[in-house]
Amino acid sequence: MMQTDRVPTGIAGFDGLVEGGLPKGRSILITGEPGTGKTIFSLQFLFEGLLRGERGIYVAADEEPMDILEQAASLGWNLEEYVEKKEFAILTAGAYLSSVSGGPKDRQIDIHKAIGDLAKFVNQLEAKRLVLDPAGPFVMLRDTATRIQDQTRLLIKLLRTSMPTTNLLTSYAVPRTGERTMRGIEEYMVAGVVVLEMIWREERLARSLIVGKMRCTDAKPVQHEFDIVKGKGIVLLEHA
Ligand SMILES: Nc1ncnc2c1ncn2[C@@H]1O[C@H](COP(=O)(O)OP(=O)(O)OP(=O)(O)O)[C@@H](O)[C@H]1O
Ligand SMILES: [Mg+2]
Repeated sequence: MMQTDRVPTGIAGFDGLVEGGLPKGRSILITGEPGTGKTIFSLQFLFEGLLRGERGIYVAADEEPMDILEQAASLGWNLEEYVEKKEFAILTAGAYLSSVSGGPKDRQIDIHKAIGDLAKFVNQLEAKRLVLDPAGPFVMLRDTATRIQDQTRLLIKLLRTSMPTTNLLTSYAVPRTGERTMRGIEEYMVAGVVVLEMIWREERLARSLIVGKMRCTDAKPVQHEFDIVKGKGIVLLEHA
């Protein structure tokens, strides 16, 4: 019988929530407000891969490669070493998103070209893990909802068909006020969604994580409190 292969994130307590890891070869959305831990989650997923001999690529949109290396180093992860060994690369989305077509009023990125270029790089490096942090620029918000959805569907499909990687896509989320709006990436198109939030718990603010969905996985809808710890990264409190 067909079984879902799992890709461990190395996040203490998380892999156990999702039957050992993320479904291999799929795209998972990590969503949350600024500062909730999306980048750290992504870097930990990549670092765990490197420890297991799986190469990785991080595509940054908002940050400089040096800042990413510094962020990782602050948690005790020496990514620089893997850059030197050519097992890990940080790319800036700008290089892929420069392929725009149309005039200033009608800018639309050529997603086929952007993902095609990225796939070449992924295949050259033989990367197994890929992060788009954030993925929003790849779907370049346009005028109507339909087009955004079309772009998103296309992005997820192209990632699936043109590279063998397991992908983490991050996006900003507005707080849950009954209606949760995802900016850029539609939840129903990805194989999994992890929501990172700050919550009030016993009169203090705490970091929390919910596995909103994970295809082919028995993931319980439970809010898990976590901490960010030097040398360990994200640690679910039940596992501290
Ligand atoms: N070395 C560290 N040790 C402990 N906590 C850290 C460390 N580095 C960062 N943090 C915590 O992690 C938080 C930021 O996490 P991260 O950068 O992953 O958030 P983000 O969701 O990617 O934010 P943004 O949307 O702004 O990119 C910081 O605000 C800080 O509190
Ligand atoms: Mg970030």
